[in-house]
Amino acid sequence: MKEALEKIIAEVREHAPGLDNRAAFEAYKATIQGPHGSLTAVMKSMGKVPKEDKPAMGKLINEAKGAVTEALSAALAGIEAAELTAKLGPAIDPTLPASEPVRGSLHPIAQVREEMVALFQRIGFSVAEATEVETEHYCFDALNIPQDHPARDMQDSYYLPDELHMENVGKHADEKYLLRTHTSTVQIRTMLERKPPIRIIAPGRCFRRDTPDATHSANFHQIEGLYVDREVTLTDLKATLDHFVKTIFGAKARTRLRPSFFPFTEPSFEMDFYSPDLGKLSNKWLEIMGCGMVDPEVFKSVGIDPEVYTGFAFGMGIERIAMILQGVDDIRYYYQNDLRFLKQFA
Ligand code: PHE
Repeated sequence: MKEALEKIIAEVREHAPGLDNRAAFEAYKATIQGPHGSLTAVMKSMGKVPKEDKPAMGKLINEAKGAVTEALSAALAGIEAAELTAKLGPAIDPTLPASEPVRGSLHPIAQVREEMVALFQRIGFSVAEATEVETEHYCFDALNIPQDHPARDMQDSYYLPDELHMENVGKHADEKYLLRTHTSTVQIRTMLERKPPIRIIAPGRCFRRDTPDATHSANFHQIEGLYVDREVTLTDLKATLDHFVKTIFGAKARTRLRPSFFPFTEPSFEMDFYSPDLGKLSNKWLEIMGCGMVDPEVFKSVGIDPEVYTGFAFGMGIERIAMILQGVDDIRYYYQNDLRFLKQFA
């Protein structure tokens, strides 16, 4: 009898895992535990076992029952899981709404740049660009910046090795490459390429050897403006900048020009403005750009006759404008790319 039970257990353990549907499972289960099943037959034969052997036999039968039930339940669980999967279909629910795509946004500096560019485009300026790697000629000499000017110092600008060989920059043997220190280089490159009238703005990146602090960064952005034609006057400059300030900082904003000096403009000015609508910064004069009338020496260096043409130029830092508009009090936030900062301007 012991052998018969062991055979049944082994048989069930081997056969049950292969059952793959409920009908087959029930049919097979009947051959073991049904009224005519093999295990049932063994149990019925208990009646013929001598009285003294009954306890031992009963124990064996119970163990066999346990083992058989265990194997059959495992097989049934597998079949039920397969049935459920079949009922649910593939592991996606096409009726659920799509998840929101993660949207990027323009960097806050780019946002302000675009706003400024659009403003000047509406009044007839077009965008001009030039290289960030420059030569001393375009960055300084052609702009009438003398040989001993502090900006030309190795300590103030990023000079680059001669081995760069950047054909498109057009370097002469006796000068050096450097990263442009201002966008005024675009004035020169544009005037060499085109004849007046010229009305351009040049947004772009500039580089100076500044120690980073709340208002300085070795890498920053400027927008340059240049208007060259017959009879361009200081009134045109003032009106253009006035329009710029009122559009960007509100109709109540006011501007003032303070005499200053730049080698490439004469006369030269710093432009300040104030606006009553700037929160903490309201009603304080804030300096935002350098400007002036194009110096005749600059016209001469690009072959434009200063007796025929006049022009104005201006240049301002985009970060400075952005900080005022966006209420940012440390320029370094713009370059850390911390999403918690950037998302506030999305
Ligand atoms: N290039 C000057 C600067 O970087 C700004 C400027 C531009 C001044 C054009 C006058 C005219 O500070």
